[in-house]
Amino acid sequence: MRFAMPTELKINTAVTASCKPNTSAAVGQRLHFLDGNIMRHTPLPRILPSEITDEHLWTTRREWLQRAGLTALAVGTGSLGTAAYAAKAENNRAVLPATRNAQLSVDETLTAEEDVISYNNFYEFGTDKSDPERRAHRMETEPWTVRVEGEVLHPRTYDIDDLRKLAAMEERIYRLRCVEGWSMVIPWIGYSLSHVLNDVQPTGNAKYVEFITAQQGPNHMPGVRRPILDWPYTEGLRLDEAMHPLTMLVFGVYGKLLPNQNGAPMRVAVPWKYGFKSGKSIVTIRLRSDEPQTSWVKAAPHEYGFYANVNPEVPHPRWSQATERRIGGRLFGPRTPTQMFNGYGEAVASLYAGMDLARYY
Ligand code: MTE
Repeated sequence: MRFAMPTELKINTAVTASCKPNTSAAVGQRLHFLDGNIMRHTPLPRILPSEITDEHLWTTRREWLQRAGLTALAVGTGSLGTAAYAAKAENNRAVLPATRNAQLSVDETLTAEEDVISYNNFYEFGTDKSDPERRAHRMETEPWTVRVEGEVLHPRTYDIDDLRKLAAMEERIYRLRCVEGWSMVIPWIGYSLSHVLNDVQPTGNAKYVEFITAQQGPNHMPGVRRPILDWPYTEGLRLDEAMHPLTMLVFGVYGKLLPNQNGAPMRVAVPWKYGFKSGKSIVTIRLRSDEPQTSWVKAAPHEYGFYANVNPEVPHPRWSQATERRIGGRLFGPRTPTQMFNGYGEAVASLYAGMDLARYY
């Protein structure tokens, strides 16, 4: 299976006008479960557009810093001291050796590492694209265990070091398409999630896999002070999607361990789905007989579906998904067409045979 891109996509930076939290009153309310089964209606926060950094401003600020001879990593130091920032700027993460899996890699120009690790969505640290890079060092990642439980014959709690050794580390170059209309090409390091699922042996009742990510106190994750989502951030896949070889457990990027802002010590990458399906900093993987409710579906079911397959023909209610902007490069380049299943259709379209993908968005 090889996903070669015949022509290199042109880098462009047309400004997108969107951020995921709905800034209108349309979001309304979300359901909140207390004590198991008592349901309460909690008004969702109204996030003002001005509270979310516009991508144009982010890019302009970054360019300004570069022109001024400053590193992009110095953007908005906030409460982080200069010394801590200088240490981060060295980017001295431990090396994670891996063998390139060319069969499962796309043949496209990589997004610069600096962009991959500084332009992030990780709402536990804030909604601004630069918040995770500025704040995610506060997350505790040691010790770290991952519980794999539910509909499995052998539930198990793995120490992260054991998970790193469970299968051979591969480097795979995947496209990442965010639902907001931007994209990257990223050299992830990890292995297929199926290795872990086979290790615990799903029962015959297992139909779905739920991913529960870390929830730490506001000193560690300042973004959880605001109920933007029903924390912890959770996501899910159908079991056959989770078992697909492309579905990857990721431990590293660009030859090194993941930085916290990209989901250290372990995240998921599902390249044919919008980026929000790829939960970061996972602590529990739960196999289930029923479809899990995910954080984004709970927050705005009319905007975000369980499947979230990249689909240029199904617009988001507030913007088109027909084109995307590759992160990096010059301002105001042309947007490029988005591909069905993010270009992975040959490998994954059969998972959805006979399904109405406009209904199951
Ligand atoms: N995981 C957690 N725990 N919290 C988040 O806010 N954001 C998602 C996804 N995983 C998110 C998350 C979204 S919207 C995207 S696009 C990707 O992470 C971004 O991954 P990246 O920042 O490594 O590019």
